[in-house]
Amino acid sequence: MVNRIKIKVNVNGKDVEKEIEPRLLLVDFIRGELGLTGTHVGCDSSNCGACTVLLGNKAVKSCTLLAAQANGNSITTIEGLSKGDKLHPLQKAFLDKDGLQCGYCTAGMIMVAHWYLKKNPDANRDEIREAISGNICRCTGYDSIVDSIEEASKHMNEQEEEIVTRQVKQ
Ligand code: FES
Ligand code: FES
Repeated sequence: MVNRIKIKVNVNGKDVEKEIEPRLLLVDFIRGELGLTGTHVGCDSSNCGACTVLLGNKAVKSCTLLAAQANGNSITTIEGLSKGDKLHPLQKAFLDKDGLQCGYCTAGMIMVAHWYLKKNPDANRDEIREAISGNICRCTGYDSIVDSIEEASKHMNEQEEEIVTRQVKQ
């Protein structure tokens, strides 16, 4: 029998404590243990970015980390961005500017864009392209994604954001 370990994390503003197998990937913890299936698995090998979430303030590919590595930290997924039925500016911009077609890459694109616009709110189109260069989209040709992120950058501060980054008490 595999020994299980206990982890405490803050997920989209809520403290969560779970016993998990030490080898469990963060993406499988998010999808399987927490039921947050907005985070997708594309390649399972760190290439596509579909699994991108925020760990603390950083965008990470959650298929490349163990859930145990998130212990004591905060995790923000796509489900944590909207406020009730009010979409986050990035979600709204992706809808308004046709930033998605099949939508498989979208959660990852939005999470990496969120991370990037927080540190570079005035990003130009080239910088946005560079920021999302680790995320693959097979549908859009990327122009509408860049349009969406550029549009969102004008509205990011209109909505007070409470992306929880506090450390979880151990
Ligand atoms: S599923 Fe994680 S990078 Fe593709
Ligand atoms: S919208 Fe289909 S992969 Fe990006």
